[in-house]
Amino acid sequence: MTFFVLSVVMVCWEQLDNSVVSHMKSYSYRYLVNSYDFLNKSFTISRQDADSLSGYHYLINHEHKCAGRDVLLLLFVKTSPENMERRRSIRSTWGNENYIRQELGANVRVVFALGVHQDPQRRESTQQALLEENQRFHDLVQQDFADTFHNLTVKLLLQFRWAHDYCGHAHFVMSADDDIFVHMPNLVRYLREMYRRGVRDFWVGRVHRGAPPVRHKDSKYYVPYEMYRWSSYPDYTAGAGYVVSGDVASKIYQVSLTFNSTLYIDDVFMGICANAIGVSPQEHVFFSGEGKAPYHPCIYGKMITSHGHVNDIHDLWKVATSLEVQKISGGLLGRLYCTVVRVALLCKPYYVDTYPCKSAFL
Ligand SMILES: *[C@@H]1O[C@H](CO)[C@@H](O)[C@H](O)[C@H]1NC(C)=O
Ligand SMILES: *[C@@H]1O[C@H](CO)[C@@H](O)[C@H](O)[C@H]1NC(C)=O
Ligand SMILES: *[C@@H]1O[C@H](CO)[C@@H](O)[C@H](O)[C@H]1NC(C)=O
Repeated sequence: MTFFVLSVVMVCWEQLDNSVVSHMKSYSYRYLVNSYDFLNKSFTISRQDADSLSGYHYLINHEHKCAGRDVLLLLFVKTSPENMERRRSIRSTWGNENYIRQELGANVRVVFALGVHQDPQRRESTQQALLEENQRFHDLVQQDFADTFHNLTVKLLLQFRWAHDYCGHAHFVMSADDDIFVHMPNLVRYLREMYRRGVRDFWVGRVHRGAPPVRHKDSKYYVPYEMYRWSSYPDYTAGAGYVVSGDVASKIYQVSLTFNSTLYIDDVFMGICANAIGVSPQEHVFFSGEGKAPYHPCIYGKMITSHGHVNDIHDLWKVATSLEVQKISGGLLGRLYCTVVRVALLCKPYYVDTYPCKSAFL
């Protein structure tokens, strides 16, 4: 028994130790990766080579979606052919352009970015359904690459290319997963304020700092040494939802024209491009990254994004944008009450992936 307990302790200790050491190592590496331009050098390739990696053709496109309008935000939702239900929910809640125009007086363009069905057997029938869906809503942008996890960087390049070609005047560009919730009124208010301040080189979201590449072969995020040699990624924002200013979008596009895009982790690839143009991401505590926000009116007053919402999106949209939210958190007493509630919800002693504790006090 004693022997057994001791072995378990030893094994756990070793694993803990390993991950602590590897995090410390990658954190010191982070300084080097962020400060020098060897990433830029090693990813730069010729324009022809870059083109052969990402030069896919449009199957569905809307060249005039932004034309002639002053666009505050161009919002890409990264989706897959089979996720019709998710797109339907988004169109009738936070991604509803008409609601945003009428209720918030803002011009936001919502575009769904996707490839073709990954299973060739089902490609034709899904494509037919997509064409019909697009006939109705005019908001799909599709290229002829297989829509797989390992083609996410191709999808990233589609977004920046499209933004450059057809919506270069958008003040901000956002990239979002199709299973996140966006509190559109809060986001629009925030971006208007940023626009008023005339921000440039702006990139905001949940920031990953000094993250080490995953080297276990069985992980979804496995990256071989040949693909990325160093022990730390540059700083980047979680791909679930982030925003860049128009000037950053344009510069990322320029860099991507001569960059090797075989690294398939799209948010890391974005970090490498940004590193090459000297842009670093800034943290916004109410962008959730991979985490899910607690359900409470005192959270809804502040939240920008929350991850992992599919079936509850209609209910969440209704309660999060209701007038109750303003009422509860209004006045000195309301603010005090909400701070206490947020501390109780967010400052947990054990690890919960949601907004950080410090956001309770903002
Ligand atoms: C990416 O898409 C291309 C074009 O459809 C396909 O040939 C390739 O296998 C896909 N790559 C991955 C890793 O799925
Ligand atoms: C791009 O990087 C991959 C490794 O991820 C490498 O095998 C390939 O040769 C590179 N492409 C070019 C054109 O250098
Ligand atoms: C990145 O590399 C290219 C060519 O190698 C160079 O023109 C550019 O100035 C570099 N950018 C940075 C930020 O060092």
